[in-house]
Amino acid sequence: MINKINQLLSDIENLKAEKAEEIEVLRIKYLGKKGEISELMNDFRNVAAEQKREVGMKLNELKEKAQEKISQLKESLESTQTSGDTIDLTRTSAPVASGTRHPISIVKKEICGIFRRLGFSIAEGPEIEDDWHVFSSLNFADDHPARDMQDTFFIARNPEIILRTHTSSVQTRVMEKQQPPIRIICPGRVYRNEAISNRAHCFFHQVEALYIDKDVSFADLKQALLFVAKELFGADTKIRLRPSYFPFTEPSAEMDISCNICGGKGCSFCKHTGWVEILGCGMVDPNVLDNCGIDSKVYTGYALGMGIERITNLKYRVKDLRMFSENDKRFLEQFESAY
Ligand code: DAH
Repeated sequence: MINKINQLLSDIENLKAEKAEEIEVLRIKYLGKKGEISELMNDFRNVAAEQKREVGMKLNELKEKAQEKISQLKESLESTQTSGDTIDLTRTSAPVASGTRHPISIVKKEICGIFRRLGFSIAEGPEIEDDWHVFSSLNFADDHPARDMQDTFFIARNPEIILRTHTSSVQTRVMEKQQPPIRIICPGRVYRNEAISNRAHCFFHQVEALYIDKDVSFADLKQALLFVAKELFGADTKIRLRPSYFPFTEPSAEMDISCNICGGKGCSFCKHTGWVEILGCGMVDPNVLDNCGIDSKVYTGYALGMGIERITNLKYRVKDLRMFSENDKRFLEQFESAY
């Protein structure tokens, strides 16, 4: 009997099964009411009294081993089944809900595409910046109000480390590393310490453009602006430039386009003027060129910066800026795009 038990022990040790049904067959064969182990239990009666202790222990061991093996087989089968489930070949291919591009991404790509056709390439810079790249290098006087706590987010207690308030900081980063000709656009997120409302947010997006070479003039700027406005808002779009002030450009201007919502007749969006402001621009101040190691006696340049949310509002008429960052599917699903 001991021999028989040993034989079964080694058989059980080597059992294999790939399907649940096979495991069940094995369970019945060894552990079923009429299975091998039950039969041995029945024969136990006939074992000589002096052997009962030894054989009894062996038999218990055999039963435990068999139960253990069967549950082991079941467990490993279940685990392979779950990993197999990740590729369910029986699933239909449709409908698979694919996401849509975010409206800000759509407009950003469109703006970048227009400038790319004018020969600009994309440059990026960090969102966590220092005072030099955001303000000082761009000719902001030490006491300029834009440095005030009202507008700028400071990081930790170090007044030098800030969240960039505009993408003009990328201008400096590029000019420090590269000599003209420079023709770049810098899309990116910027941060300002503003109260959040339907018209303002503490973060938003800008695209900055910078062109520096010999003999770049205001006429070049105006030509580029007209091209960009027509590409973005249609061939009938008119532009007008109003004198303005930015520390980093001289002369500076703000550009309005004819209101594309009312066609220039006057509506609540353009406050009944027929014009809407979309960007700031100007000729790069010679101080800025010199600050960044570019000889202002040899080179001139123009720069411009625009808010992507503003352009997106004009194109899609989104009334509440907060929609852009709330991840509401009902809003986002409306922006299917070929881009
Ligand atoms: N940096 C300005 C802002 O955040 C926008 C701007 C104005 C950028 C004039 C320019 C520029 O490059 O020339 O409001």
